Amino acid sequence: MRASQQDFENAMNQVKLLKQDPGNQVKLKLYALYEQLINSATCLPKPGVVDMVNKAKWEAWNALGSQPKESARQNYVDLVSSLSPSSDTSSQGTHGANEKVQESKHIVVTYEDGITKIMFNRPAKKNAINFQMYQEIMLALKNASTDNSAITVFTGAGDYYCSGNDLTNFTSAAGGMEEAANRSTVGLKEFVNTFIDFPKPLVAVVNGPAIGIAVTLLGLFDVVYASDKATFHTPFTHLGQGPEVCSSYTFPKIIGSAKAAEVLLFGKKLTAREACAHGLVSEVFPDSTFEKEVWTRLRAYAKLPPNSMRISKELIRKNEKDKLYEVNAEECTTLKTRVLSDEYINGIMNFLSRKAKL
Ligand code: COA
Repeated sequence: MRASQQDFENAMNQVKLLKQDPGNQVKLKLYALYEQLINSATCLPKPGVVDMVNKAKWEAWNALGSQPKESARQNYVDLVSSLSPSSDTSSQGTHGANEKVQESKHIVVTYEDGITKIMFNRPAKKNAINFQMYQEIMLALKNASTDNSAITVFTGAGDYYCSGNDLTNFTSAAGGMEEAANRSTVGLKEFVNTFIDFPKPLVAVVNGPAIGIAVTLLGLFDVVYASDKATFHTPFTHLGQGPEVCSSYTFPKIIGSAKAAEVLLFGKKLTAREACAHGLVSEVFPDSTFEKEVWTRLRAYAKLPPNSMRISKELIRKNEKDKLYEVNAEECTTLKTRVLSDEYINGIMNFLSRKAKL
């Protein structure tokens, strides 16, 4: 059935109600179809080269060529219908407001106001990252890199941001320590590369203490906001292991070599204000207003032109990428030998038996 005048008017109203900006190309096409239908102009005057906006509109109109009013009306209605929320389900990578986009056991991924939020959701274990969560996070990042969000944000459920690697990952793995060490270091390398390659602005909203890999990952984030209740702790030496997630390279660069050595070698815990003073954290907020202030700000940032942010991030990061891949590979090779060492096994045993000692 051909689109009627009423269908066209409904479509015009629908455009005003769109929650997502459809982008300039679509807006220009809508404008051009509208012009053909309403004014049926056969020859609009071509604007001068300096009149950029009207020139773009003229070019969009000119590109349509001549078509009957009925076709212009039908094309307008079809185009609007392809943008409406009811058709979003069929278009990959497009989400409605506050939509849960990934059902996983220990992470919750939601989309709202141009932001994909990935929340560690294992509060009973202080959001420690088990094998399954590593996979879930990689999938969430893969999806977020192509969805219609402008920025991607990590945060934690409950009182912790994240207590790092789940220390039972090795002891509970089937096939013995050696196989677990192989599997986890291959997995870690891929996991870290996913962060290195992530194309959009990556923001951490650190709502509470962060430990281990939750801290070292911050060196690959673009912006880090922290509650004044957050702390940053990398007890690698206590566990007989070494730095990971490129922190042997990023931390001296970000926080300076003397402070990085204290943090990575001796496990010195930083408060949020110390981490901010050393450049690991962008800004610290009082815990009482943290969520409100940070999310208000992020919603405003998510309205900035997304392509411009991606291109700028690419420029900021691209000279470092090869170095980061190389450091990541080297750290994973070292980690594989460390997790089979007596020092590491003792560190894990100390953690697992700590409650019995109390
Ligand atoms: N791996 C596995 N389990 C963890 C964990 C981790 N990284 N962090 C916390 N948990 C578990 C605890 O074992 C405990 O489980 P249980 O209730 O079944 O006993 C639960 O989460 C709550 O932690 P608990 O230790 O009881 O709370 P706490 O407030 O006394 O201490 C921490 C919290 C995070 C300081 C403490 O659990 C800890 O030191 N965890 C290890 C952190 C770590 O070393 N991470 C790796 C760095 S490389």
